[in-house]
Amino acid sequence: MKTKDKIINRVTLRFPSLSENERFARLAVSGFVSSLDPALDELSEIKTAVSEAVTNCIVHAYRDTVGEIRMELRLLEGCRLYISISDKGCGISDIDKAREPLFTTAPDEERAGLGFAIMESFTDKLRVRSRPGHGTAVTMLRALRTRKPADETRS
Ligand SMILES: Nc1ncnc2c1ncn2[C@@H]1O[C@H](COP(=O)(O)OP(=O)(O)OP(=O)(O)O)[C@@H](O)[C@H]1O
Ligand SMILES: [Mg+2]
Repeated sequence: MKTKDKIINRVTLRFPSLSENERFARLAVSGFVSSLDPALDELSEIKTAVSEAVTNCIVHAYRDTVGEIRMELRLLEGCRLYISISDKGCGISDIDKAREPLFTTAPDEERAGLGFAIMESFTDKLRVRSRPGHGTAVTMLRALRTRKPADETRS
């Protein structure tokens, strides 16, 4: 996202890394974009991308503990959705490796190593920043094939 992008709407949520909050995050992003009346397939892809990022915070970042997950949603001019999901967990030592399809550090837990690949395919841009011991931030940008222009949603 470029800094000059005009923000039409924005919410920031913070919640603990409890498994039930994966569902909450899906519902939250769904509610955030609902005024744009997105197509069902599009909504489903966005919810899945959010779910993968939040699940990673729950199962990897805060592996044996519960920590805070921060999710920021922005609706940008031109019907583009910006999603940022970050944690202050264990971090990722090799981001390029972690982003490779089928790479997982948790094969014993039936993880497929496909979360980042899914996020990448369901969004237009995926950025991963991380510092081992400090946490990880995942940002995604997705243009919405909306039936209602964002500006019309404002009263
Ligand atoms: N927020 C995070 N904090 C720490 N490590 C992470 C985080 N997100 C991803 N990782 C690391 O990146 C690897 C790849 O993540 P990815 O989501 O692609 O696969 P996975 O979670 O292992 O499997 P799947 O998502 O298919 O269940 C993980 O195995 C983990 O080591
Ligand atoms: Mg994953």
